[in-house]
Parts: sequence; C-alpha cells; structure tokens
Amino acid sequence: MLNEAISMKITPSVKSHINEVDWDNLPFGKVFTDHMLVMDYNNGKWQAPEIMPFGNLSLHPATSAIHYGQSIFEGMKANKSEDGEKVILFRPDLNAKRFKESCERMCMPVIPEDVFVELIRKFTEVESNWIPSREGYSLYLRPFLFATDDFIGIRPSETYKFVIFACPVGAYYSEPVRVKIEEHYTRASRGGVGRAKTAGNYGAALYPAKQGQLQGFHQLVWTDGIEHKYIEESGTMNIVFVINGVLVTPSEESDTILRGTTKRSVIEVAESWGMKVEERQVSVEEVVNGVKDGSISEAFGAGTAATIAHIAKIGFRDEILDLPAIETRTFSNKVQKYLDDLKTGKVEDTFGWCVIV
Ligand code: COI
Repeated sequence: MLNEAISMKITPSVKSHINEVDWDNLPFGKVFTDHMLVMDYNNGKWQAPEIMPFGNLSLHPATSAIHYGQSIFEGMKANKSEDGEKVILFRPDLNAKRFKESCERMCMPVIPEDVFVELIRKFTEVESNWIPSREGYSLYLRPFLFATDDFIGIRPSETYKFVIFACPVGAYYSEPVRVKIEEHYTRASRGGVGRAKTAGNYGAALYPAKQGQLQGFHQLVWTDGIEHKYIEESGTMNIVFVINGVLVTPSEESDTILRGTTKRSVIEVAESWGMKVEERQVSVEEVVNGVKDGSISEAFGAGTAATIAHIAKIGFRDEILDLPAIETRTFSNKVQKYLDDLKTGKVEDTFGWCVIV
C-alpha cells in the first residue's frame, strides 16, 4: 500500500476537548489532542493508516515490545506562522531518516522516509487547530513503533503498530539547567543501541538520572562507556559548548550518540554565520578546565523537546562549576531566537528546512 498515494481513512472524534484545555498551565506531555494516527504492520506489509479518535490501545499481555523492548520513537514539533496562515514542520526529513535507522537497528520494518513525512504531514493537518500560537509553544508530535506479536520467545516480532499522537507544549525546562557529569553509569557503549531512539535507552537512564536529581541536578551528562573520559550527550538533549569562540560538540562518529535535529541545525546555522565548528572528542578534563579558566563561555543542550537549554551549572565530582550569566551568551541566545523565528516563519527559510503542511 505504501507507495500508492497514501489512502487514509479519517474517523473524526465526536467532540473536541480543545476548549477544556487550560492553556495557561500546560504541563509538558500531559495534554493530548483529539486524534491519533495508527498504522499496523502484518503479513509482511504495512496496512492502510487510519486517523481516529485519540484513545487507549488494547494489548495482549504477551505483547513482545513490553517484554523484549522492540520499541522506538521520534519527537518533532509543528508551529504556526505568526499570521496563523501556515503550519510549519521543522526538518521532518531528519526525523524520518533517524526513525528508519532506529527501525533497522532494532530489527523492525522500515517506514520509507517519504511515507513517514507524509503521515506526519497529514496528521498535523488534521490536528492543526491544536497548534498553540503563543510564543515558545508548539505542537509536539510523537511518532512511535512497537512490536505487537503475542509471543514469548526471543526473535523479531512479525507484527507492529505505528502510532502518532500529539501534545500542545511549552518549554520542557522552565529554567537554565544544572547537569552532572556521570562517571559511573553508562548510557551507551560502542556497538550498542545508543544511536537508536529506542525506549530502553530512556528506561536504563532513569535510575542514574534519579541519583543526579536527588543531588539537585536536572540531568546527567553522559560520558563514554569505556573510560568515562569523554563527554557524549545529556539525558534529553545533545550537548554543545562555545570554547574560545569555537562551537564544539561531541562527534557522532561513535555509534553511542543520538543524531539530533536541533544540534545539526545549530551546527549548520553557526557555519553559515562564519563560526568555526568542531565535531570531535570532548574530554571531561577540557570541559572542567574550560569552565574554570573561562575559555568555555557557553554550554547548552540542544533537543526537540528541550530546544536550546542553557546550562547554568555543571556538577563534577564534589565540585559545582558555574557557567557565565545567560545574558552574556551571545551565540546560544542568537541561535535560539533564529531557530524559533525559522520555525514560525518570521525569517526566510534560506536553508529549505521547513515543510509547509
Ligand atoms: C525529544 O526531544 O523529542 C525527546 O524525545 C526527548 C524527551 C525528553 C522528550
């Protein structure tokens, strides 16, 4: 079916609950729109997708994703232009590519990238009245895929369910973040699944992250799984530094780091502004010394949910290292505004990144 001009059944919800939403108190990820898109995989092929009223899924207790972890997801955002005329998706092709790579790594059937983008586009169109027009708010889209065989045994499932739902959201972090460099626990090791956006990576991080939260940190900064000497990424976002005026971020060459859309965009924008960018190994020592001697002027997380999250403090062993005041961070403030403006059509999309729904 998937190469035909996707035929899609749309069953509208009987009544929208949009007027019941408290838009002044919008917790991240807790308010859901009226519909979801569901597409099943069975008999060796994808079946016709359907947009239907949002609701619970009914699962067999032996559903293999629950037991054996074949479960992947993406996070992306839709915005409206200032005049409310256009609905804009930001670089959905990168999400489609990463989703495909996650499918492959987790032995799951691939959704062709153009089909993934078209399903997102269609679903966003149906839910477009849920896109908040307030500054700093968006419609967060959550496509995910999980194995549905009711089978006890280790082998790739033969059936899957792909779902897209959406949540209107504001900022994921409401303040600049405090992060702790983690030197004991490991998020991912070489040859593992660190590059895949798979559910287990997040589950495995909960206990270490909780230890950090008990010490007053929002998130951990993961280090490499062999020596804990090199910075990898943070729990909910990639990590970026400005060191002596150069934009520096851990290289994605090892397969332990998620390939983030926001980070890639930050890099490409920086390069277009003539800034020197280095994607390379970044040692813990370099970061700790750089904060102490002032050569690191900015540090931030980059992610779809987190957007640009300024890092205020870095915990390292018994020390808390303070980074420069947020107002002094010329690059991250500028790139944050620029990306926000691109996503809401306030500046011309010279990169060709935006898809108009
Ligand atoms: C995203 O940035 O979209 C993620 O999936 C991270 C999660 C913390 C919401």
